[in-house]
Amino acid sequence: MKFFIDTANLNEIREAQDLGVLDGVTTNPSLMAKEGITGGQNILKHYKDICNIVDDNVSAEVIATDFETMVEEGKALAGIDDKIVVKIPMIKDGVKAIAALTAEGIRTNCTLIFNAGQAILAAKAGADYVSPFIGRLDDVGSDGLALIAQIASIYDNYTFETEILAASIRHNMHLIQCAEIGADVATCPWSVITGLLDHPLTDSGLEKFLADYKKGNK
Ligand code: G3P
Repeated sequence: MKFFIDTANLNEIREAQDLGVLDGVTTNPSLMAKEGITGGQNILKHYKDICNIVDDNVSAEVIATDFETMVEEGKALAGIDDKIVVKIPMIKDGVKAIAALTAEGIRTNCTLIFNAGQAILAAKAGADYVSPFIGRLDDVGSDGLALIAQIASIYDNYTFETEILAASIRHNMHLIQCAEIGADVATCPWSVITGLLDHPLTDSGLEKFLADYKKGNK
């Protein structure tokens, strides 16, 4: 399973990279705005800064919603660095743009996936990744994890090479259950990645080991 971090915060990206478990980064316009990154050139520079930290797989999202501009924007984003994966929303022009960018050898991540039909379309268009939003489905009383399982089962029936990138992960159990289902990638906030470290028995066990060591070495 690949681990991506879902943030545009450079410190968090550096920390995750230093932990030695990071396979990529996903961003979106909301995450960029949260870091105060606005304006075309600043945004492009920020993507380059992210690329300079990680080994590969930096999802950079287009803002356009029409085919021509999406393709133009996608090419400009891909031109920043070979590590860029162009993130395209699941709309009609987006599907066309995914097919066009794929034909040019540009990697894509189809975002805002909320049902299996959308995941089939994205895979047919040649998307490298599809991003179903688990947490947002749970928020509206749907079952985000069930969608991951459904897409995995559909892709297994065929030869789609599209990877399932579970997004909108809110807590540890989302991530663990995605791993059980077989999601190819999980993109998580830094708090979820570090949350995987935690267990009270680990803390108390370590405390006792260290206390016993001290006793024996008096
Ligand atoms: O990668 C998509 C993700 O950023 C959405 O997460 O928590 O805003 O639903 P959230």
